[in-house]
Amino acid sequence: MDGIEAVAFDLYGTLLEVASVGRAAAEVTGEPAALVDLWRQKQLEYTWLRSLMGRYQDFWATTGDALDYALDRLSVVVDEATRARLLGAWLDVRPYPEVPDALDALALGGRRLAVLSNGTPDMLEAGLAAAGLRDRFEHVLSVDDLGVFKPHPSVYELALKAFNLPAERILFVSSNAWDAFGARAFGLPVAWVNRSGAPLERLGAPPTVVVPDLAALAEAVG
Ligand code: LAC
Repeated sequence: MDGIEAVAFDLYGTLLEVASVGRAAAEVTGEPAALVDLWRQKQLEYTWLRSLMGRYQDFWATTGDALDYALDRLSVVVDEATRARLLGAWLDVRPYPEVPDALDALALGGRRLAVLSNGTPDMLEAGLAAAGLRDRFEHVLSVDDLGVFKPHPSVYELALKAFNLPAERILFVSSNAWDAFGARAFGLPVAWVNRSGAPLERLGAPPTVVVPDLAALAEAVG
């Protein structure tokens, strides 16, 4: 972890708790966790598949498609207003409790911080503002200008360009294992925040460090 001058964070699942979208889902189904899990899984699958197909569509629209699939699969019918409310939950996702203090600690000594996410610029700005975190970040970087999702290497390169630093000076942080392996494959040092105690993926070079949460990461980086 020596020589790290900047830290780039994944957003959904890493700083913001995707499960909190379930507050909105609880209005339409007795099993909000099942809806949110399926919705999130489809959202990610669609990003990977669209990237492979060369058919980019932004993360907001892709999240809407994933919602429609998940509702269909669970045989839940909603009106347009309810659908809009469900989708809108992605603009107000609750941060994990340790996040503000961990960001303070990681920024000590002038370390620079950024968000690097699949989300559209509007989603990222709204979500970070709602979480009270927007002013922590020098850069809020979206894949949207590139027209391809993570884990395409060009996405991780956005961090090098924004910070104007070489890869070895930038730590990438994600709770999404596939994202952590993607950033590592690109050549960044990576912290995988393994919140659920999942086994290591078999996807090439492992993360540089594995921590249970962001407080532990702040301690490890020092
Ligand atoms: C993101 C997705 C991977 O924020 O959660 O990029």
